[in-house]
Amino acid sequence: MTHLNETARDILRKNDRGGYTVPTDGLYPYQWNWDSVFAAWGFATFDNDRAWTEVETLFSGQWDDGMVPHIIFHQSDPGYFPGPDVWGTNKTPQTSGISQPPVAATMVRKIYEMDPEAGRARLAALYPRMVAWHRWWHDVRCAPGPACITHPWESGRDNCPDWDVGMANVDGSNVGPYQRRDTGHVDASMRPGKEDYDRYIAILQFGKACGWNHAEIMANGPFLMADPGITFILLRAHRDLIALGQELGEDVSEITGWADALEAAVPSIWNPDLGAYDARDIRTGTWANNLSSAAYLFLYAGIENPDMDAQMQRTWDAVTYGIPSSDPEAAHFDPRRYWRGPMWPVVNSLIALGLKDSGRDADEARLRRETATLIEKSGFYEYFDPVDGTPCGGSNFTWTAAIWLTWAG
Ligand code: DGY
Repeated sequence: MTHLNETARDILRKNDRGGYTVPTDGLYPYQWNWDSVFAAWGFATFDNDRAWTEVETLFSGQWDDGMVPHIIFHQSDPGYFPGPDVWGTNKTPQTSGISQPPVAATMVRKIYEMDPEAGRARLAALYPRMVAWHRWWHDVRCAPGPACITHPWESGRDNCPDWDVGMANVDGSNVGPYQRRDTGHVDASMRPGKEDYDRYIAILQFGKACGWNHAEIMANGPFLMADPGITFILLRAHRDLIALGQELGEDVSEITGWADALEAAVPSIWNPDLGAYDARDIRTGTWANNLSSAAYLFLYAGIENPDMDAQMQRTWDAVTYGIPSSDPEAAHFDPRRYWRGPMWPVVNSLIALGLKDSGRDADEARLRRETATLIEKSGFYEYFDPVDGTPCGGSNFTWTAAIWLTWAG
């Protein structure tokens, strides 16, 4: 639909703050890590140069240890909490203290392949920075085997039931007074609850108190869970980074070692009782016992698993629109509350890449159609109720516009 293509491009342009794109005006006024690389993928459909700039600006916030933070605070905005002072990372530019799903290498590969000649020099400049970030993931966050997160925000799937068992061990009772800003922008019933928020802040305060020492956070932080989402995203990204390195004539053996190690750790996130890949508390060994859309990224990571195929069909058939963020047949399913049930077009676009790469063309077409229907009916919302299609969260959302241009439209 041509007019929706134009609307989607307009959203990217309007959310452009000069070299980077905000996820949506108001609710998220800074550069978010994984949102930003989806924006780049979207820009690449009509402005390849601007696509590269988006990723370059993101990597301008990279820390010396290789971590690319989850938020880069390019300019201050009182409409967001927790802002740069709360994080207190003392970086230039100012940033948060945790990371986010490493989709960048996968999207950079796509942008590069859309116009290799124009992108070659920029790829060569970005490549060592991406390698440094992947090394950080391998050395720091994958030390227990699978990719782990130290804060639910690091997963990008903030209040997913995946994190409930880990969050139960976090004491949020002493965080002191603070004022949330998110619920001033969108309906509070579509956002994480107060108990979750207190704990988010408690985990943040631990990081700040130890000077964002990630060895200390991994060893003694209040929250540490294996994330199937990042495990699969990173595995795919390692392989895309290997392809990019080979394109540049680089020695990729170190990255191959990381990919092999991560693939070998995938069985450690298989929960036999659930019959699915699952999040797990690293400190206690407790499984989340939750089927989230992150588990369905197994195909995106190049892994075949018939049990997961069956689980995916079951949860998909239980709703009307796309693959929900959390199991619609579980007691905690909440179809409009952020990551506790809603359908996120952006995650569905990644699941679709896996369906396509593995030759499941009919499923891929179905997922695209269901996603497109939601956007055609209601616009470029952040997420949707998968049962009745109600649009939820922020509107004129960058990554929803981007995946319309690259995939759904
Ligand atoms: C928020 O503020 O809700 C974000 O998801 C944190 O990254």
